[in-house]
Amino acid sequence: MSRTSHIRRLFAVVATAVLTAGGLAAATPSATATTSAIPPSINTAPSYNGLSLTPPMGFNDWAGFECNSQMNETLFTKTADQIVSLGLDKLGYNYVNIDDCWMQKYRDSNGNLQVDATRFPHGMKWLGDYIHSKGLKFGIYEDAGYYTCQGAAGSYGHFQQDADQYASWGVDYLKLDYCYQPLDQFPGKSQSEVAQIVYTEASQALLNTGRPMLFSESAPAYVCCSGPDFQNELTWLYQHGNLWRFGSDIYNAWPSVLENYSEGNTPGLAKWAGPGHWNDADMLEIGNGGLSLTEEQTQMTLWAEMASPILLSTDLSKLTPAELSIVSNPDVVAIDQDSLGAQGTIVQSGTGYDVLAKPLAGGDVSVVLFNKGDTAQTVTTTAATVGLPADGAPFQLTDLVTKAKTASAGPISAALPPHATTIYRIHPRADKHLPIAATATISTADGAPLTPGTPAPVTVSLSNNGYFDAQQPTVTLHLPPGWTATPTTLNLKNIAPGTTATATFQVTASTPPPGKVTTTLTATIAYRDRGAPATATADLSNVTNTPFPNLASAFNNVAISNESDPAPGNFDGDGDSYSAQALAAAGAAPGATVTANGAAFTWPNSAIGTPDNVAGSGVMVTQPGHGSKLAFLGAEAGFTTDTVTVTYTDGTTTDGTLGFPNWCCASPTSYGATPAVITDHRNTPSGPANFGIHYDVFYNSIPIDPAKSVATVTLPNDAAIHIFAMTVQP
Ligand code: GLA
Repeated sequence: MSRTSHIRRLFAVVATAVLTAGGLAAATPSATATTSAIPPSINTAPSYNGLSLTPPMGFNDWAGFECNSQMNETLFTKTADQIVSLGLDKLGYNYVNIDDCWMQKYRDSNGNLQVDATRFPHGMKWLGDYIHSKGLKFGIYEDAGYYTCQGAAGSYGHFQQDADQYASWGVDYLKLDYCYQPLDQFPGKSQSEVAQIVYTEASQALLNTGRPMLFSESAPAYVCCSGPDFQNELTWLYQHGNLWRFGSDIYNAWPSVLENYSEGNTPGLAKWAGPGHWNDADMLEIGNGGLSLTEEQTQMTLWAEMASPILLSTDLSKLTPAELSIVSNPDVVAIDQDSLGAQGTIVQSGTGYDVLAKPLAGGDVSVVLFNKGDTAQTVTTTAATVGLPADGAPFQLTDLVTKAKTASAGPISAALPPHATTIYRIHPRADKHLPIAATATISTADGAPLTPGTPAPVTVSLSNNGYFDAQQPTVTLHLPPGWTATPTTLNLKNIAPGTTATATFQVTASTPPPGKVTTTLTATIAYRDRGAPATATADLSNVTNTPFPNLASAFNNVAISNESDPAPGNFDGDGDSYSAQALAAAGAAPGATVTANGAAFTWPNSAIGTPDNVAGSGVMVTQPGHGSKLAFLGAEAGFTTDTVTVTYTDGTTTDGTLGFPNWCCASPTSYGATPAVITDHRNTPSGPANFGIHYDVFYNSIPIDPAKSVATVTLPNDAAIHIFAMTVQP
């Protein structure tokens, strides 16, 4: 399926509150914030079937297992056992849902769906009974089109027959996907009109069985996230279902979490959520190994804030204690499950960050400060921005992860590492005698990275947002290896409520290794709050991109392998690679000169099976020379181009766009390239294969200024583009 996301955000620009300085330097407000004045609205229409008054929670196998060999009966019985033994059921994780691949490709002669008996030898009724015996509920998957997305029998034309079948098995939840849409049955109707017809019919079929079944409608995921079909579907989905996937399939990596989060914040989407009907941001990837612990916490926090279903999709027996505490944090689960049913929305955004607010039953507000960016930053918002009364009365901030409770006079802030969130439950009219809310910030003079060897000011501040002095503050820098600072510790005067105190250090960074490197400098501020010790910390992410001395020292990928040992090679992300033997036969042996389009290149002189190319990562490489072109040998395993920046010895730069054809399977002259090395086979993980098809390496170039001398080259920042050699051509 193809899904695109076109996210547009429109927010009114309003001024950001700046803390008063009380004679000390002012805090840096969060740069160029935009805030939305519109509070989230809630879809208060009743649940069409009376079910799912809070977002469903539980397990779905797809993200963690797809149709692999573990996707069988045992996965679901074990998962049910683990949900109970880990106590997750007590927190609301009640559904055990089977996704695609439980059924066969064809129906039986009576038109009934046939269970894949190899995966599910005891059948679905047995499995449903097992899950019910654990006090849990049983979910199943089908597709409203001709086939499921994996090509098994779809439900179109059989909605009632299938619904009766599910009911007879004791099914409690149906996810109805929408691959292979039956558009040809409805000439002249739009995609959303057809979706409405089939989903309404399927929904009615479920009601007709008399068995309560939650209904998950996937239709909008196929028209995400703008345009008349998407907008139209949102107007009827809640009348026939309890939740709907609105966007991309989640996958096990940070960009996917960010993408689904962004799609979930499509303007106008949140207002369709409310008790009985939810926007589904897809499964959690927690436990699947592609996210850091910080990112796992962030997915849990954001999904709860967005009132998304919380469906785990991993081997629960392998969750680490830290991961288990993320998914079983009752206070975060309570935000997701809040009975008011509002979906949290973005109320403020700025460079690399968002602030989300979700009103809760009883008048509390859940506020998430989210650092989307790759460098640490302190994010600050105000009571008014998150929809709380701005009357100066104290607020209680409960950090739902650390459990710390503080009192604030209004400002709400947190120092956040990259990709991190802080989630506060904010209770208006709190006791001001709670510990003071105070947040640290650390920054360089202009936000620019420190130049190695050159002392430069680094400013650390503490904003006291509470009601009592931050007493005897001491600021300490924790320096990365090789860094120095003068001094490393500074004592400040007491910081009065509503003020910010600042300490400035002269910090000298050491020379980082070549490549893109993030070095973290941490500041700790120890202070006393009415005598009791307290601390605040903040990180500075110093990002440098130091040129490699030559292309070979930047090699970060093995694209060429030996036919007798293809294992180290991975050109395309699937373990396929060029054959060293086939390349040598075509003139590209290690260290050989390869001539193409008048340019002479040195082919990587790497031992076979060791790094031999740069997979685009935006690094800089020293490449002296004069000429009219910068020429490359490369290939790509996607279909992309990216920018190359040439820096001349006088400090000026020019940009060019570099693309290579796909190594095997596209026009060999795409992007203006020409084939340079033509081999007749490649290696797969199990050895040489695909004889008869060409696997090429291509020549391409970008123009450069012949009047200047090249100093360095910034390579493309797209991992699909691989560069084997580079030269300045006359
Ligand atoms: C689609 C859905 C996924 C999963 C697969 C199964 O891609 O979006 O969530 O159900 O189909 O084939």
